[in-house]
Amino acid sequence: MFLYLFIVIKASLFLITVIFVYHKIKLYKFDGPFAIPLFGNLYTRKAFKTISYIKECREKYGKIFLFWSGLKPMIVVCEPEIVRSILSDTHKFEKGEDYTEKFSFVFGNGLVTSNGDKHKTSKRCLSRFFVKNKIDYYTDTICKMTNQMIEEKLENNLNKPFDIQDFFHILSLRIFGKFSLNIDYSEDKNIKVAEEINQDVKKGSNLIGKHIIMNIPMFPFLESVKKLDKMVKNIDKHISNVIESRKKGENESRDDILNQLIYGDKEDVFHQIRTLLSAGHDTTAFFGCYMVYLLSHNQNIQDKIKKEIREVLNGREKMTNLDIDKMEYCKMVILETLRLYTIIPFITRKCKNDYKIKNTNLVIPKNSTVLIPLTVMNRDVSNWDNPNTFFPERFKDVNGLSIPKKGFLPFGYGMRTCIGNTLAIREAIIMLGSIMQRYRILPDSNFKPKIIAGISLISQNGINVILKKELISQI
Ligand code: HEM
Repeated sequence: MFLYLFIVIKASLFLITVIFVYHKIKLYKFDGPFAIPLFGNLYTRKAFKTISYIKECREKYGKIFLFWSGLKPMIVVCEPEIVRSILSDTHKFEKGEDYTEKFSFVFGNGLVTSNGDKHKTSKRCLSRFFVKNKIDYYTDTICKMTNQMIEEKLENNLNKPFDIQDFFHILSLRIFGKFSLNIDYSEDKNIKVAEEINQDVKKGSNLIGKHIIMNIPMFPFLESVKKLDKMVKNIDKHISNVIESRKKGENESRDDILNQLIYGDKEDVFHQIRTLLSAGHDTTAFFGCYMVYLLSHNQNIQDKIKKEIREVLNGREKMTNLDIDKMEYCKMVILETLRLYTIIPFITRKCKNDYKIKNTNLVIPKNSTVLIPLTVMNRDVSNWDNPNTFFPERFKDVNGLSIPKKGFLPFGYGMRTCIGNTLAIREAIIMLGSIMQRYRILPDSNFKPKIIAGISLISQNGINVILKKELISQI
């Protein structure tokens, strides 16, 4: 028995070494930190802190280098021009195993994880729900939901350190529920399920992130995979109930995402709703958290936001679409938050055919994985002056939500750009405006967020701030 085990282990180690050497030879032109078979760069503890490790490598090895996530080599590209050509070329680059095997455990074959024609059809079918006109229609609802959440969660927690994470998570889920499914998650009968979804999405993002970064296959016997499986079943049970109710004529809506999907492919409706729920909820919620955190440490910027809101609203409380379009400074604050706290820190792509990198002697071989560290590019000294300083004015006169030349692509680039970007920005501006109308945000001097890269950027210990009443009408 032991002899048998010994032979199996030896044969596996031999195979692993052969695979490692094969990749090493194929990718010999790419510089990068020292790697060993099986563990790659993960033999050192600091490589598990992926963001700071990749940043350190960028400084040491330049804008293109090799990072080994265990046995898997990843070609890291931080050069904006090359990143743009990779993300816009869907013929040569597609979503690889990180998406199709790992993300897809939760997202199924939905919009984030599908490739080719399946992706095109899904995007065509869902895009119309995310255009500006549609979002404009929901502004009023988002304002009301935000005010209701402020009453429920913030008003009782003034003048003391307070973790604001739940506020943003519950609020963004409620908005998603109304927007996509016409469900009111604030109703008593839905509160428990909303709380469960909230927890599942947060934990799920963290677990999938770990599988991707450490290149751990989704073996069904792993504890993390069992947990994920349970979460997916929970969410599917809820989606089933929602579909049943809709078919019975409850929560009826003339034209929402559920209506669009409900009579199509039976599996697809689960995949797409799970995808939108997971991709749209955690991202927007943590984005709100980081914005408030940054503001708590930047009182002068709060003064400028309050000034803009006072001038735009001119004595009114309720924000309209027209007001929102005029809130230029708030938009700059939002973009600067997305730069400093890049909600989707990494994007990967699989190369379908050998790809020569322009102006270099490097070729990305067919089937290799490319890692694009948006988070590192967003603080790269070669792209930004004082990259670690919170300075919203750097986004003055920026049209749209990206600066492709600097590699500032918080919502991705090309065909696979985030479908929910306009909705996310609308939510953020309403949340920001509503909080700033009522409060001054102060820092909790004992608090420092412990940030890790899941699918999105997660703060493991929440986000603590102190809220003090400061009505905009009274300053
Ligand atoms: C601050 C909030 C958000 C950020 C920073 C963000 C960021 C991103 C990024 C970077 C991508 C591209 C991923 C890639 O190329 O591999 C993406 C894709 C996507 N996002 Fe978002 N997102 C946000 C909010 C939302 C919302 C609110 C929704 C929907 C309700 C959403 C749904 C999606 C979907 C479906 C895709 C895949 C699009 C495709 O492949 O065609 N996201 N997002």
